[in-house]
This record gives sequence, structure tokens and C-alpha cells, in this order.
Amino acid sequence: MTLDSAQQLLESTRKFISAPHKMFINGDWVGAINGDFLEVINPANGNPLTRVPAGTSEDIAVAVKAARIAFEQGEWADMTPASRSKLLWKLADLIEANADEIAQIESLDNGKPVNDARWGDIAFSYELLRYMAGWCTKICGQTIPLSAAAPFHAYTLRTPVGVCGQIVPWNFSFMMAVWKIAPALAAGCTIVLKPAEQTPLTALRLAELIAEAGFPRGVVNVVTGYGEHAGAALAAHPDVDKIAFTGSTEVGKKILTAAGDNLKKVSLELGGKSPMIVFKDADLAKAALAIASGIFYNTGQTCTAGTRLYVHDAIADELLAALVQQAQQLKIGPGLSTDTQMGPLVSKEQQQRVCDYITLGLQEGATLLTGGKCWGKEGFYVEPTILDNTTINMRVVQEEIFGPVLCVTRFSDEQENDIISQANATPYGLAASIFTQDVSRAHLVAKRLKAGTIGINTHHVIDPALPFGGFKQSGWGREMGWEAIELYTEIRSVGVAL
Ligand code: NAI
Ligand code: MG
Repeated sequence: MTLDSAQQLLESTRKFISAPHKMFINGDWVGAINGDFLEVINPANGNPLTRVPAGTSEDIAVAVKAARIAFEQGEWADMTPASRSKLLWKLADLIEANADEIAQIESLDNGKPVNDARWGDIAFSYELLRYMAGWCTKICGQTIPLSAAAPFHAYTLRTPVGVCGQIVPWNFSFMMAVWKIAPALAAGCTIVLKPAEQTPLTALRLAELIAEAGFPRGVVNVVTGYGEHAGAALAAHPDVDKIAFTGSTEVGKKILTAAGDNLKKVSLELGGKSPMIVFKDADLAKAALAIASGIFYNTGQTCTAGTRLYVHDAIADELLAALVQQAQQLKIGPGLSTDTQMGPLVSKEQQQRVCDYITLGLQEGATLLTGGKCWGKEGFYVEPTILDNTTINMRVVQEEIFGPVLCVTRFSDEQENDIISQANATPYGLAASIFTQDVSRAHLVAKRLKAGTIGINTHHVIDPALPFGGFKQSGWGREMGWEAIELYTEIRSVGVAL
């Protein structure tokens, strides 16, 4: 194992990375039944970091059984909402107390800047848990007046949906894991969580904290392994009541097919190709900052990334000059260096995929304004890249690249209306943003954009209280807010003949 020598790793980080890793099933730490492992790579240098068990359908079966027993009987099934709330809050406190370490593990595993991990991913995770802890005691049914001739007393019970399979990606590994478990636990469900094979480490650290917080055995189980083995088995398992997935649209469709067998409930957070529209009256300095972060944050590996920029002719040159300058000033480097602003991509495959898309964009007729190449002698870096003169039918404009690549289209006064249609003309509908100082235009355009989250004079708008999800092929359902509790509950109607 080689850890970045330049870095001042916490002793606890070093210890965690160096220890042998096991999966967390029914409160026990276990290896894969077939004894296999998968290798975890440090994207900053391409070297192996450690290995974790490569669980398969056999391990998933054991975990689902544990989750079923924990759901049906015992401590968790009988726990009061207030006690569940306390457990969630305790987990939040433990995450906050260990936040620096978790951020370092995430940075080593995923590549992202350690400060982004600490103050973005990890901070959001404990705040989300605290927000969801508040819902535990407020999940209510209703009394319903019936119109039958004989008198009835009728009411609804809002009850947990049951055993949940949750499959998460590598771009915000820890945050996605918490994002999934928090509402499910608030609702009283039990869970089998499968992290991405590229970044399994922080989910295992989360499992340690879940044990430390005192959740009963079997309530949360973490099975590491490949998507096509462990993931597919979880999606297809007949005793899983609900599957929640974040990842590619391609795999989302597979999950849906697999879930069809027992008609388990499905929620999907999938890809995006989010537009950012800059009108000529925008505050350009502020817009440039928001747009640069919209596309380059997390090295562009963000489902809501603002990947398509529509900019009015009158201000295009000035805005693009500012964006090029920001792209060129971004400090690229290993996530563990505290001055790094943009880390590597997660894997060699993703690096290759992004570089192939840049080449394709240039073949399709785009103009390179900055970037365009891999960066550095080792690791999976790609330069922040801006492609000008892109058009709606180009593949770089239609497909999710998942890297630091911005596609630019300019529009004139006459095209202003058409540009909204173009913004909507991809298979996706996750996020969108509008930059203007005209209040009426901002709200009118917001109403016309087919996207689950819309920013006005900002791009990424994410909060534990704000419903999050996509239109069209960006997914099904809304996470965060009360809507997330709805995803993890079922309504039971009860009628009493009086
Ligand atoms: P992926 O969608 O294959 O992986 C996401 C998760 O799904 C991982 O945990 C993986 O193990 C699991 N998975 C894979 N195949 C599965 C299957 N057949 N059944 C059940 N689970 C399965 O994403 P991948 O291949 O890592 O990345 C490819 C592209 O997907 C990226 O370039 C990006 O465009 C997109 N992506 C989008 C994400 C988002 O948040 N919107 C996150 C990750 C990837
Ligand atoms: Mg895949």
C-alpha cells in the first residue's frame, strides 16, 4: 500500500486504510462468502490503496435476511419514533466528531479535494441526518371522513416500506450513502447498502459509526462488491421491498427491469445534462463564479453539473474570457493537498471516457477555448475544458460526459425563445440555472425549464429540506425534504364500522 507521502494523514485515517476491510452484515464484520476481494485504487496516483470483499448474490441473500428479521421483529421494529430520532442524531454527532478522518478517507478513495469532502460531503451528511431525525416523530396518517350510509371511523397509517436495497455511486460516496440511509431510517425501514466498487471505503467507515451509535443488528447492512454481481442481486432480490439507486441512466433502466419481478418500489436518481442560461442583463462577475463551480466542482463528476452554457451574444466574449481565466487558474492536484481546487477523476476508465468525449466534440466541430488534455504524469487528471460553438445535435451536448467539460452555445435576441426549447432538448431533466437581473424573466423561464432543481443566479441548489430529483430520464421520485419520507413509507387505510 502506498499513501501520499507528502500528506499529513491523521493517525486514525492511516489505521483505517491499513486495516483489513470487511463487510457489515447483521452487526458482524465478515468477508465475502466466496473469499474474493476487489482492489481499491488511489486516483491521485493510480496506485492500489487497499482491497475490500467482493460480495456476490450469496452475501446479498444473507444481508437481506438480516434486514428482514430486523424489520419484522425485535428492538428496531418496536422502537419509538423518539428513540429512532435520537439514534439518527447520535450518528450525526459521531460523523461530525470524525469528519476530518472521513474526509481524508474520501479524498484518498475518490480523489476529491479534502476540504470539499470535509465542508461539502461530510458536513452535508451530518446536517441531513439531523434534518431527517426531526421527521421521525412527525410521520402521521390522517383521519378520513367516509361517505358510506353506515357510520365509519376511518384513518390512515403511514408505515415504513420495509427492507430497502440502496445502491450508490462513487462521485459523492459517503454523502450518497447517508443521503439514502437517513430518510429510510427515519421512516423505520431496514437497509442493505451497496457502495460503488470504485469507492467502497467511507461506507464501511459509516458502518462502524452505525454500530457505535447503537443501531440494532441488521438494521443497516453494507455489502461491498461489483455492480453486476452484488448490485444486480440486490435489485432482483424477491424479499427487498424497495430499491433506491443513484448512478447512470443505463444502470437505472436495468434496476427497473430487475425490480419488475416482485414489483418492488423504485426510486432513481440518474444522469443529467443541465443547462445554464445567461441573459445579457446578468451580473457577469457573479455568473462566472457560479458557472465555473457549476461545471468544475468535483471535477465535473456531479449529476447536476452545469454542462451546457447558453450565453447571449452581447456578453459571450466577456463571460467566456472570465471562465477561461478561472479554468486556467484552478489549482489541479491530489485531493489531499489542501490547496488543491480540482482533483483527479475517479478512475482510469472515467479519464479515458472524458478525453474521448473531448476528442469527439472537436471532431463534431466544437472550438477548444481551454484545456482539452489529460494532466500530470500520474493519476487520472483532466484539464478543465471549454468547448465553444457546440450545437444541440452534437453528442457532447446530448450525452452525460461526467467530467470538467463545458459545452457553449451562443444566442441572439431573436433566438431567446428558442434557447429555452434547446435547454429542454436532451433526454435529461435534473437541474438548470438562469442568470438575469430581470425578476419577471427569471420566474417565467424557471417555469418553462423541465428540470427537478432550478437555480436563479446560482447553479447548485441542494439542501436537506429541498426536494431533489429529476424529470424525464434523470429519474423517478424526489429525495430530501418530506418527499424523501414519502419514498420510504406506505399508506395503510383502516376502516372501523361503528
Ligand atoms: P454505474 O451506474 O454503473 O454505477 C453506479 C452504481 O451502480 C455502483 O454502485 C455500481 O456498482 C452499481 N451498478 C452497476 N451495474 C449495476 C447493475 N447491473 N445492477 C445493479 N447495480 C449496478 O456508473 P459507472 O459505470 O460507475 O459510471 C459510468 C457513467 O455513469 C459515468 O460516466 C456517469 O456518466 C454516470 N454516472 C452518473 C452518476 C450520477 O450521479 N448521475 C453517478 C455515477 C455515474
Ligand atoms: Mg457501470
